[in-house]
Amino acid sequence: MAVTGKTTLLGIIGWPVEHSLSPLMQNAALEAMGLDWCYVPFAVREEDLATAVAGLRVLGVAGFNVTIPHKAAIVPLLDRITPEAALIGAVNTVKREGDALVGYNTDGMGFIRSLRHDLGFDPAGKRVLVLGAGGAARAAVASLGQTGAAEVAVANRDTVKGEELAAGFSRQFGGTLFAGMALDIPHIMANFQNFDLVVNTTSVGMGGSAFKGLDLSSMNSGAAVYDMVYSPWETPLLAEAARCGLRRANGIGMLVAQGECALAIWTGSEPPSGVMRRRILVAIGR
Ligand code: ATR
Repeated sequence: MAVTGKTTLLGIIGWPVEHSLSPLMQNAALEAMGLDWCYVPFAVREEDLATAVAGLRVLGVAGFNVTIPHKAAIVPLLDRITPEAALIGAVNTVKREGDALVGYNTDGMGFIRSLRHDLGFDPAGKRVLVLGAGGAARAAVASLGQTGAAEVAVANRDTVKGEELAAGFSRQFGGTLFAGMALDIPHIMANFQNFDLVVNTTSVGMGGSAFKGLDLSSMNSGAAVYDMVYSPWETPLLAEAARCGLRRANGIGMLVAQGECALAIWTGSEPPSGVMRRRILVAIGR
């Protein structure tokens, strides 16, 4: 790819950002689309966020992704955000529209797209157990409400935080039953038959860490397990799902799909299917 005087710039801001796979997959897609666009990483410290956003404005970038720790903090720095980003309370994609910087959130739609594509799972009318109540959980829970899940239970280590998240979404989506519960493994296991899908949004699983004592054998045979973690490729949770013969997927599909949705927002066209995923799989040696 040759950068010219006319190249349109995209990027990602985060801290740290050097491990991000987004530049690789976005540039692979831009190239496949034949666009004279380029996507670059910007390491931006928490205290420098406002200056960085002001800089990106005057530099005229067409858009950028936002990652940890800026997803919520950037909201007041933008001219407007979509209803979906407002619902999630976070922005992962910014697009310049005229002189305005507009915040979007593609994590929720990426999650749902990955559930459909990687698990063949449509949340409409389904009962879902979400582990965790942080930013990733908010995106998952909001999108499950939007797609008409019947029930969403939020199990979090800090139980009150999970209950508050559930209560907030109850007010938004009357058709879905939201509830908080403790992240108490024996209690969760006793309730497994009530769920069609379990989603891990916590950092448990990273580096091979595990939910101690978690046994999935009481889940329904048609149920599925989604782990947003993808390093290691097979987390202990997914290994347990495999042992029990359950449908399962890691978070690579969500990473790819949120990126595809972002690129479609910036460019107005969907990137060719599979290009981003293939680039990432090569990068991580799969
Ligand atoms: P993210 O944006 O990735 O969701 P986050 O907003 O910091 O990150 O949220 C992290 C989530 O992982 C939280 O639900 C957190 O639980 P608490 O709210 O109780 O802190 C959860 N989490 C992190 N480490 C955990 C652990 N060792 N066991 C269980 N939950 C954990």
